[in-house]
Amino acid sequence: MPVVNVSLGERSYPIVVGTGIFSQIGAALDGVGFPRRVGIVTNPTVGELYGEVLVDALVSEGRQVSVVQVPDGEQYKTLTTLESLYDAFIEWNFDRHCGLLALGGGVIGDLTGFAAATFLRGIPFAQVPTTLLAQVDSSVGGKTGVNHPLGKNLIGAFYQPRYVHIDVDTLKTLPSREYVAGLAEVVKYGVIHDAGFFAWLENNSTALAERDVEALQHAVMVSCQIKANVVESDENEQGLRAILNYGHTFGHAVETLAGYGVIRHGEAVAIGMVLAARASERLGLCGKDDVARLLALLECLALPVTPPAFSPEEYLAVMRHDKKVKDGAIRLVLNHGIGSADLHRVDKPEQLLSHLFA
Ligand code: NAD
Ligand code: GLY
Repeated sequence: MPVVNVSLGERSYPIVVGTGIFSQIGAALDGVGFPRRVGIVTNPTVGELYGEVLVDALVSEGRQVSVVQVPDGEQYKTLTTLESLYDAFIEWNFDRHCGLLALGGGVIGDLTGFAAATFLRGIPFAQVPTTLLAQVDSSVGGKTGVNHPLGKNLIGAFYQPRYVHIDVDTLKTLPSREYVAGLAEVVKYGVIHDAGFFAWLENNSTALAERDVEALQHAVMVSCQIKANVVESDENEQGLRAILNYGHTFGHAVETLAGYGVIRHGEAVAIGMVLAARASERLGLCGKDDVARLLALLECLALPVTPPAFSPEEYLAVMRHDKKVKDGAIRLVLNHGIGSADLHRVDKPEQLLSHLFA
């Protein structure tokens, strides 16, 4: 099975990407020495679709398995939900020799990872991502956490999974809106790191829109490889890793202002990338044609590109809570043409935002 390795010394782990590999997870977990006693964290939607197959695959090779479900939705990525997970683990008498499996999208992955990072000061966990967004982004790299009413992902930890198991076949059941939202993070990798991959996306947008398995496997592998490379260079986001946040400062503001769960994270990132590209153009870092290519690709993939109607002041107020803020200054990831990006301090954000939202 095709594997991308995330090389982080003793925290290294494999990401296996394939089709029809869902029930082969047991052997892979053995390969990384994962605990025999496992708690699956999922939600009713994903649990209904894949819970039984996963439990059977694990039980049939002798693992002891418990399952806990949390309500489905970004609005439940909270400290309250986290507490309900700790309750379950304590009820199961979980100790440090037990492990968690996150079965679901980014919400489940972030919650489970943070629960794993903090329960008993840390127990092992593995990711079984079932949305495109989670397969290309959130399941890799060890960012875990929950939201706060004042901002996305404000409470969390860097905590790497021991293993990531990606079966792109699970994407067949994904609602169209969720699938399309995940494509935004795929486009992100092209803009920030790989002009060739961006061109491949332009040439294969129809295959991707049709969920062609071969195209998907390629897109997921390349995305995971780019993310792995960036995380290997800067695991705790001291510098380079911030480029993975391209479009996210605006995107998180869109999500927060609209209310969690109203606009999908990937949709908000698509809108955020357009704003970031326009900001880059305004600051002389990329050309009109680069912005036009990005807009065309996002539109071709049926992603939204227009920010919801809040005032520049409202956007700015939320953006001031962004985790990249330093000494009170907003910092944005901006693109240099297509295929490269870095972090920039914005000295006059009011002016930039009035221009962007004029
Ligand atoms: P999600 O987890 O809410 O999943 C989207 C919807 O799809 C949910 O209703 C879910 O139940 C359903 N679903 C999942 N898999 C399915 C399947 N195979 N078939 C049918 N339905 C399925 O949303 P998401 O877009 O996966 O993740 C968004 C979250 O990820 C946000 O909270 C965001 O902050 C986080 N995120 C984290 C990172 C990171 O590095 N940790 C990166 C990007 C995003
Ligand atoms: N999704 C951004 C990161 O993992 O750094």
